[in-house]
Amino acid sequence: MPENCWNTAFYETKHAFVWQYGEDLLTLLSPQPRERILDLGCGTGQLTQKIAAVGAEVMGIDQSLAMIEKATANYPHLQFAVADAKDFQVEQPFDAIFSNAVLHWIPEPDAVIRCLREALKPGGRFVAEFGGKGNINAIATALYSVLETMGYGSLEKISPWYFPSIGEYATRLEQQGFDVTYAVLFDRPTPLEEGKSGMANWIEMFASRFLAALSADQKAIALRVIEQRLKPLLYRDGTWIADYRRIRIVAIKA
Ligand code: BEZ
Repeated sequence: MPENCWNTAFYETKHAFVWQYGEDLLTLLSPQPRERILDLGCGTGQLTQKIAAVGAEVMGIDQSLAMIEKATANYPHLQFAVADAKDFQVEQPFDAIFSNAVLHWIPEPDAVIRCLREALKPGGRFVAEFGGKGNINAIATALYSVLETMGYGSLEKISPWYFPSIGEYATRLEQQGFDVTYAVLFDRPTPLEEGKSGMANWIEMFASRFLAALSADQKAIALRVIEQRLKPLLYRDGTWIADYRRIRIVAIKA
């Protein structure tokens, strides 16, 4: 199945909520002047810039070249690099690692946590938010069931998404020598832009790999049927509401 193909212009406009909601997570990070901070999965750099604005020395990394090129164009004074969250090394360890809306894309959490541990100073903190257990339950159920009905196998098993419980993720962190000091799982119903097109836009942006094998006509039919199934659950007063559920977690490298 092909990787998700990121449209950076849509990421910054129609789906700006991804980093706008992340602003709240900055309070939990509480970056300090001169701290060295890594923004893991920085996208187009908006939150990296906010961390830098307090006087921290920040570096943003992302696996997508398109995202890093856009981040560099947006904020040429900041440092960005293409890197894989489950396989990266740093020259000098960081005081903190921040990550917003990324870890649910990586179904190899132990490899990520190993890299985090190596990249942090002793006592350094990891502050993250991502999709937790039950995230986009209604959307994923409709997506898998409609595509399966159209003959596309059992998609749940090959889903790229990873939505762990607090218990699972905290345990993985502890197994690799972190102390988990804060963890919360909460529903965050998220209104999507562009009225009745909001759900189709979301699916095309974030679930494009599931649609890659479909012809244009099949894709249009699939989107219409998925919308019909989701409408009673997630469409209110002309706006689609994605059934997001987030984990927020803070862990200290012991
Ligand atoms: C999320 O932010 O929860 C998410 C985004 C895209 C796909 C799946 C989950």
